[in-house]
Amino acid sequence: IPVPTFDYVVFGATGDLTKRKLIPALYHRFLDGQFDDECRIIGVSRSKLSDADFQAAARDAVIQFVEKDYQDEKVIDRFVKIFSYVAVDVSKPEEAGDLGKKLREDPKVVRAFYLAVAPDLFEPIAEYLAKKKYYRRDARVVIEKPLGHDLLSSMEINDGVAKIFKEDQVYRIDHYLGKETVQNLLALRFANTLFEPIWNSAHIDHVQLTVAESVGAGTRGYYDESGALRDMIQNHMLQLLCLVAMEPPASDDANALRDEKLKVLRALKPIVNGDVAKNTVRGQYKGVKSETTAVAGYQDELPEDKKGSRTETFVALKAEVENWRWAGVPFYFRTGKRMANRVSEICIQFKPIPHSMFDHAEGAPKANKLIIRLQPDEGVKLMMMIKDPGPGGMRLREVPLNLSFAQTFSERTPEAYERLLLDVIRGSQTLFMRRDELEEAWTWVDPIREAWDRSSEPPQSYVAGTWGPSGAIALIERDGRTWYEDDI
Ligand code: BG6
Repeated sequence: IPVPTFDYVVFGATGDLTKRKLIPALYHRFLDGQFDDECRIIGVSRSKLSDADFQAAARDAVIQFVEKDYQDEKVIDRFVKIFSYVAVDVSKPEEAGDLGKKLREDPKVVRAFYLAVAPDLFEPIAEYLAKKKYYRRDARVVIEKPLGHDLLSSMEINDGVAKIFKEDQVYRIDHYLGKETVQNLLALRFANTLFEPIWNSAHIDHVQLTVAESVGAGTRGYYDESGALRDMIQNHMLQLLCLVAMEPPASDDANALRDEKLKVLRALKPIVNGDVAKNTVRGQYKGVKSETTAVAGYQDELPEDKKGSRTETFVALKAEVENWRWAGVPFYFRTGKRMANRVSEICIQFKPIPHSMFDHAEGAPKANKLIIRLQPDEGVKLMMMIKDPGPGGMRLREVPLNLSFAQTFSERTPEAYERLLLDVIRGSQTLFMRRDELEEAWTWVDPIREAWDRSSEPPQSYVAGTWGPSGAIALIERDGRTWYEDDI
């Protein structure tokens, strides 16, 4: 879909998100010729910079964060020319530079405001834009997490933005929705006839969602306020659950899809009171020291005044979607920092065959599994039983029918922001969260958080570089199941 000419105004132009994600993503799209030199990127922040300073910063961001193979001197020269800068402090609008001079009035030029700033600035910025008449009914605003720390604070943030921008102008980013393999879930489910008839409780035993990271929480102040439940489950992982569990939408229209996702969130069985201790496990990593390595524990990374923090760096939980399709099918979630590997995957575990005829075979039939690997090496794997070749009689073996994206496609996999940033310009909200989805997700997560806060039990500790605390293993083994681990 062609991208119209745009004026992209980025508030927080000197921040980390702009440098690490937004500029490299825009560069890749520019390199691919998806937009041209007519488009403008206008940086805004409080610092007093010139256009040339900001162009130099854009060049640095490309050199630092774009893979070397894609750095083309001539293209970079052209790319940085579309950057300009205005210093604005929304609390002192009288001193602000003239953003209006940079914006084009032509209604064919799409106007988008990316608020790469802390959420407490969303409302003042929105009001500033309205007061200065930079707001247009067809303008778009892009916001990103943390969109609150609970339902109430999330509603306040949304109300602040909604004072000026209508819901159809608001693009709430969950960068997981921009990932290739996450979108591929839609293709897998709804562009094939194979899976849909068996995508239900009659055939599926349970589903596992794992987002494991090998990095630690580091010294990000935000993380200690947030913890894994808010940082990963409330947004990214519940979005994954929605895409796995939703009914087929009638079209790819944004609301058709978001209506179906919302229904999944609404069907989630609340985890409250005694069920919190039964169905959730939280953990915090502790350091390891051996002769060859030393990895700091979460507590070691905290500043003095935060020591003793009970923030969870790991969560495992068992969720249930209470509707006809999924009744009785548990969804097990697991996410954490400093885990054994960096891997994000969804494992659909089918039910065992009803009866085995292989009384004299070597090896018992194992139930099929479909594994959708989101990262690092994207792919889809269907675990099946076959006969081991050879004359030695019937020997049953589990083998994968394996689709590796890297081997099948030569194209580079674009980063999530590349897709999302231009979808804003195209006016497509399909891959963005609607307000009601976000609030429904908080409604489900809040009681878990509150029960943890009330509990006298601290998070279970786990050794950095492992698969989490023993409680996470017990959570699934109690149901006679085990966490999937790729060993083939
Ligand atoms: C972010 C979280 O939203 O997602 C981080 O705040 C996390 O803590 C990151 O590391 C994971 O994203 P990705 O794309 O690396 O899986």
